[in-house]
Amino acid sequence: MMQKTFLMVKPDGVQRQLIGEIVSRFERKGLHLAGAKLMTISPELAQQHYGEHKGKPFFEGLVEFITSGPVFAMVWQGENVIEISRQMMGKTNPKDALPGTIRGDYGVIVGKNIIHGSDSPESAEREINLFFNQEELVEYNKSMNEWIY
Ligand code: PPS
Repeated sequence: MMQKTFLMVKPDGVQRQLIGEIVSRFERKGLHLAGAKLMTISPELAQQHYGEHKGKPFFEGLVEFITSGPVFAMVWQGENVIEISRQMMGKTNPKDALPGTIRGDYGVIVGKNIIHGSDSPESAEREINLFFNQEELVEYNKSMNEWIY
């Protein structure tokens, strides 16, 4: 199933210079980068992005963290990219994430877990539209890239 998803290297991942490593993992897997930008998230955008968690004990800290420095926002596309990228990220809490996953290899605590990824087709569509305009995304011609899929 051809899908798109929203992935974001969080401020800790950017500061630890893990952007290249993370992009490389998804490229080597055979997924396609459809859009990307380095940006600083406003408090308003952070509140919208994490709106479903408003009221939870970690919400204020999460908003403060995600707005604390540049993030690398990305759209990736490919077969089953939502489930595959979530597997590659590993569990939310790095202490539970398996070695070989991004959080398992690079993270230690849940408040600084390196990467965000959409967890469903609905959240992927919502988050892509929140962070990107259509003209910032490319379309791949499948006939020119048929070995990838
Ligand atoms: S929940 O309550 O199960 O729906 O929350 P969860 O899906 O596990 O996490 C939602 C996002 O909040 C981040 N998170 C935290 N940040 C800081 N501190 C604590 N304790 C904490 N717990 C969860 C978690 O990483 C999720 O953000 P994203 O960007 O999706 O990884």
